[in-house]
Amino acid sequence: MEEDEIEHTEEENDNEETTEEIHSDFEYKDIKDLPGVGSTIASKIRNAGYQDIIALATANPLVLVEACGIGEPTARKIVAEAREASKMNFMSGLEFEDKRKSVQRISTGSEALNILLGGGVETQSITECYGEYGSGKSQLAFQLSVNVQLPLEKGGLEGHAIWIDTEGTFRPARIEQLAAVKGLDPKQALQNIKIGRAYSSDHQVLLVDKIPELINADPKIKLIVVDSMMALFRAEYVGRGTLADRQQKVNVVLHNLQRLADRFNVAVYITNQVMARPDVMFGDPTAAVGGHIIGHVATYRIYLRKGKKGSRVAKLVDSPSLPEGEASFEITSNGIMDIEEEKKK
Ligand code: GTP
Ligand code: MG
Repeated sequence: MEEDEIEHTEEENDNEETTEEIHSDFEYKDIKDLPGVGSTIASKIRNAGYQDIIALATANPLVLVEACGIGEPTARKIVAEAREASKMNFMSGLEFEDKRKSVQRISTGSEALNILLGGGVETQSITECYGEYGSGKSQLAFQLSVNVQLPLEKGGLEGHAIWIDTEGTFRPARIEQLAAVKGLDPKQALQNIKIGRAYSSDHQVLLVDKIPELINADPKIKLIVVDSMMALFRAEYVGRGTLADRQQKVNVVLHNLQRLADRFNVAVYITNQVMARPDVMFGDPTAAVGGHIIGHVATYRIYLRKGKKGSRVAKLVDSPSLPEGEASFEITSNGIMDIEEEKKK
């Protein structure tokens, strides 16, 4: 943009390095992208408790002066830029409708399950899958990571995937096997998935923070998997009187994931274990770990359980736009698929 097209603000000579151009929201994906910030100051800002641009927009500049060792004019400018960027979050109903039109779907492999989900796993949303051990949560993640790579007419997005593995259960061989079934080059299919192994909940937070960078480097990324979302949080916070801390941190991660889904038009698929709830006498005595916090953020929640003859039953829970319902499918060596008519009898 030419210098004379740039809109100037009062504090225009505060930082010679940056222009005063008012950017649109999506140019600022992260605190560190704000003019005059950079990664060192960004990490100080985060340490001061402002995790993202919207939180920063509400910050007192004097707190930043203290926390980041920067001058007051710079601190004021950073907060002003964050406010400007946050305002962009308003859009008209028409714009909202347009944005919804860009939603894409990834086939799960089972037509019945796709129908339950309104066509497949959606971009711009978080889909949470919870269920007991062996119910198929990870298998669905493997299948989606392969299917996202398929052409559109085959239920894919010709896309790539990011996989955050918190339990060490990512299996390259399973990806290769599923890719071969779908006619993809197995090695290439593996190459198209970036795996981050998280060793602690803090590490998991950092890996999620790194995703915008990965997507900027590879705009074909269309799916983010977190398998499992709560395992590390649960292990680390067991028996400690810090449940509120834990939920606070989980909440930050989930909101960051939701923002990534919106911003980059990617699908987010997270898995979650269930824990027994002995206090529940009626209904299903299981509940997703992390309870209501995940429930409020996730746009689609699938409860998976084992059904008859080795089948799996998915139940859609609390969906804002789709009727509650169930779908049955199978997990075979060839992947997730509908139950053959023969077997239904
Ligand atoms: P946890 O992570 O332990 O909570 O379980 P999960 O819900 O992630 O289970 P997962 O997705 O790993 O499901 C494993 C199940 O998939 C196995 O118990 C099998 O019943 C089923 N399955 C069927 N065929 C295959 C196959 O060829 N390979 C694999 N790995 N699993 C298969
Ligand atoms: Mg698993």
